[in-house]
Amino acid sequence: ESATGGPSCPGSLIVVSNRQPYRHEYDDAGPPTETDGGARSSATAQTRSITVDEPTGGLTAGLDPVVKRTDGTWIAWGDGEADFDVTDDRNCVAVPPGEEDYTLRRLDLSEEAVDSYYYGFSNRVLWPLCHGFPDLIEDRSNDFEWYRTVNERFADAVADHATADAVIWLQDYHLALAPRMIRESVPAGTTVAHFWHIPWPSPPTFRQCPAGGRVLEGLLGNDLLGFHVEQYADRFLECVDRFLPTATVDHERRTVRYDGGRTRVVATPMGVDAAAYDRDARSVDPDRLADLLAEYDIAPDTTLGLGLDRLDYTKGIPERLAAIERFFERNPGWRGEFTFLQKATPSRTDIETYQRHGDLVRSEVQRINRRFETADWRPIAYTEDYLSTDDICTLYRRADAMVVSPLVDGMNLVAQEYVAASVDGDDTLVLSDRTGAHERLGSHALTIDPIDTDGFAAQLEAALSMPAHERRRRMNTLRQRVFTGDLESWMATQFDWFRRLRDERGRTDAG
Ligand code: G6P
Repeated sequence: ESATGGPSCPGSLIVVSNRQPYRHEYDDAGPPTETDGGARSSATAQTRSITVDEPTGGLTAGLDPVVKRTDGTWIAWGDGEADFDVTDDRNCVAVPPGEEDYTLRRLDLSEEAVDSYYYGFSNRVLWPLCHGFPDLIEDRSNDFEWYRTVNERFADAVADHATADAVIWLQDYHLALAPRMIRESVPAGTTVAHFWHIPWPSPPTFRQCPAGGRVLEGLLGNDLLGFHVEQYADRFLECVDRFLPTATVDHERRTVRYDGGRTRVVATPMGVDAAAYDRDARSVDPDRLADLLAEYDIAPDTTLGLGLDRLDYTKGIPERLAAIERFFERNPGWRGEFTFLQKATPSRTDIETYQRHGDLVRSEVQRINRRFETADWRPIAYTEDYLSTDDICTLYRRADAMVVSPLVDGMNLVAQEYVAASVDGDDTLVLSDRTGAHERLGSHALTIDPIDTDGFAAQLEAALSMPAHERRRRMNTLRQRVFTGDLESWMATQFDWFRRLRDERGRTDAG
C-alpha cells in the first residue's frame, strides 16, 4: 500500500495509450463535441478557464485514478488539440486541471497518420481480426507503415521520460510494435509491460493478419503481457508457437523466449472502481432521474431495461433488438409495461462499416417501435446523446434489467459498472457468454447466447418475472465479485507482477 492508499507501483509509472484521459477545450470554443461517452466537468487550469472531458468506459476512465495516485506520466494521442494549453514543445500538461496529479504528454499526429494508424491498421485490421471478424478486415496500402511510424513516435516519447527504474505500461492494440522499439532504447532494468484489452484470436484467424509476424515480435518486446482471460493468453502463445518459429514457448509457465528477451504472459481480468459507482448511485438526484425519463418519453413507473454501448458491430445491438422484438411478440402483456432504453455512442464513424452499422441499428429501432407502439408508449427509447457519469449512474440504479449482449468482448466493464451501481440489490443482469465479464459474473447473471433470439427473449422474460428474493440472491453474489475483483485489486495484481519480474531479473543479473 502506498502512503496515499491503494497499491503502489515499483518504480515511476509511464502509461502509454492511444486515447488520452482528458480532453481540454477552451470556453470560448463552445461546448465540447462528442467524445467516447465521456463524463464532463468544468475546471480552471492555471490561468485559463477550460472545459475538461474525461472519457468514461473502456480503459482510460479506469486507469486515470491509478496514475493520479502514482504521480506518473501518461503518453497519448492529443486528438487534434495538441496546441491547447501547452507550454513547451513536448506538449506536456499537468492533469487533472486544478489538481495537477500527473503529467499528460500528448502526441500531435497528422491527419494522414490518424487515418492510417487509428482508422486504418488499428481499427480496420486489428480490431476486426481480434474480435473474430476477419471478413471485415480492410488491408489498405500504407496503413501498416503508418502504424509502425506512429508506434515509433510513441516509443520515442517514452524514451524521453524513461528512467532506469521506470515501469512502462502500454495499453491495447494500437501499440503492438512499440514494446520492442522501447526495449531497444530505454535503460536496461526498465520494465516494459502491456495490457491487451481486447480478445486475442485463434491461430486460423490470426493467420489473416497482415504483418502478423511483426505484431507478435513487437509484443514480445514486453517483459509482461496481460489479457483479461486465460483463453486469450493461451491463444496468443499458440499463435507465437505457430507463426514465430524462432521463439521458444513454455505453455505451462506461460513464457516466451525470443531474441534474447523473455515475455511472461498472464490472464488478469480488469475490474471497475466499484466503490465509486456505488457511491454515485447512492447519491442520485430524483429530479434528474425524472428529467431523464421525461426526455426519452419513458413513463416514470415503467419496468426499465437498459443497454449502454459504443455503436460497434461487436456489441450485438441488432441481435439485442431482435430479442426484444421476439419478447414483445411472445409477451403481449408486457406491451406498455416494459421499456428498453438503448444509449449508443457513435464511434469510429470515419469507417464505413461503422456508419452502416449505425444506420442498421437506428432503422431497426424505428421498425420495432412502429410495430408495437401505442399512443402513449414505445418499446424502445433510443439515444445517442452525451450522458455524464452521474446520468449513467442514475440510469444504472433505476434500470430493472441491464442487457449486455456483445458478439464478442474482451471484458465489458459496463456489466461490472451496472452491478456496482445496483445498490438496491434487486436488479438483474442479462449477460452474453461471449464476454470476458462472463467468466466472473456468468453464474449469477442470466446468461444468453446473443445470436439465439428465442433463448435471449426467454431470458428477458425470466429476468422480468424473477421473484425478488431470487434477484437479490443473485445480485448479492454479483456485487461481492465486482467489489472483490475491483480496479484496485487489478492494479495491485499488475504491480505485483511488475515487482516479481523485476526481482527475477535482478537475481538473474546478479547470478
Ligand atoms: C475499446 C478499446 C479501447 C478504446 C475504446 C473506445 O474499449 O479497447 O482501447 O479506447 O474501445 O474506442 P475509441 O476508438 O474511441 O478509442
